[in-house]
Amino acid sequence: MPSMAVTLAGVELSGPLVAAAGAAGCGPEVLDAVPAGTLGAITTKSITPEPRDGHPPWRMVEVRTGMLNAIGLANPGLDRFMTEVVPHLSGGPAFIGSMAGHTVEDYVTVAQAFNAVPALPLVEANLSCPNTSTGRQFTDDPELMKEAVSAIKSVLPDTPLIVKVPLEMTPGFPIAMAAVEAGADALTMINTVPAMAIDVESRCARLSNTTGGLSGPAVHHLAVRMIAGVRAELGEANRVPIIGLGGVLRWQDAAELVLAGASAVGLATALFVDPRLATRIQRGLGRWVRRQGAAGLSELIGGMRTEPVVPG
Ligand SMILES: Cc1cc2nc3c(=O)[nH]c(=O)nc-3n(C[C@H](O)[C@H](O)[C@H](O)COP(=O)(O)O)c2cc1C
Repeated sequence: MPSMAVTLAGVELSGPLVAAAGAAGCGPEVLDAVPAGTLGAITTKSITPEPRDGHPPWRMVEVRTGMLNAIGLANPGLDRFMTEVVPHLSGGPAFIGSMAGHTVEDYVTVAQAFNAVPALPLVEANLSCPNTSTGRQFTDDPELMKEAVSAIKSVLPDTPLIVKVPLEMTPGFPIAMAAVEAGADALTMINTVPAMAIDVESRCARLSNTTGGLSGPAVHHLAVRMIAGVRAELGEANRVPIIGLGGVLRWQDAAELVLAGASAVGLATALFVDPRLATRIQRGLGRWVRRQGAAGLSELIGGMRTEPVVPG
């Protein structure tokens, strides 16, 4: 059997599949739905210093090409997370502590607390959530991004920092590059893409927040292109591992992200559609690695061939 283990910023994961932030509740509860051994890591809900109720319903709707959500960062807040969730983060997959906030100080507060938790070997900064209505987004400007990443890094002496970045259409991927320049140890891409749905009978927006984040099949090929592009832009000298996600519902989608350059593959919408998809994706990936003649999945990371396909 080929090895499915992957290494992410020095942390070994038993497999490449990661439950993405927002798809696994606070974290441990996803293990009730996904069999042990399927996930290499589980990302917690993005935690803010204070508890947040999030937006009122509807805050998650199905659309033709995936899902649209504007949860509004609902989470129990840092204190309850530390007392009620952290004691249950043990055994099985690695846990990735996801954090969110509205100011650099918010991130620093959560990062400081996470750094002291051995059960969180990796921390992820969600600096690209498009759902909060507070305005300022660090991912709007490379300088804001650098400021935030540097500040967070300074309070994480023991834990690698993964920075989650949004879809970028700008040549050179300035936001992702700024994150790496400021010290990100890994990148997660992509977050949901700003979008909107209207009910044509009532003529109302389908989400209470009017706009939300699109996920699922609609965003998959945007993610493939961005992961391959960022990997190329970074080059070998500045390479950091990437958790690729966006519309992975089949093993082929996951394999595509690996070939584009992802060391691990996140699942969000898939876990809402059917948590059993994780097992199917894991098995399909394993068979694909074997068919490729590789000793392990790691050999195939960024393994996309550059010669054109000859028709016929
Ligand atoms: C209902 C829902 C809630 C989410 N909440 C978070 C969150 O709290 N923090 C975060 O970084 N991303 C969050 N995301 C974004 C996902 O982690 C992921 O980046 C995005 O959905 C694309 O992956 P997918 O196409 O596999 O769903 C959420 C996504 C969904 C669908």
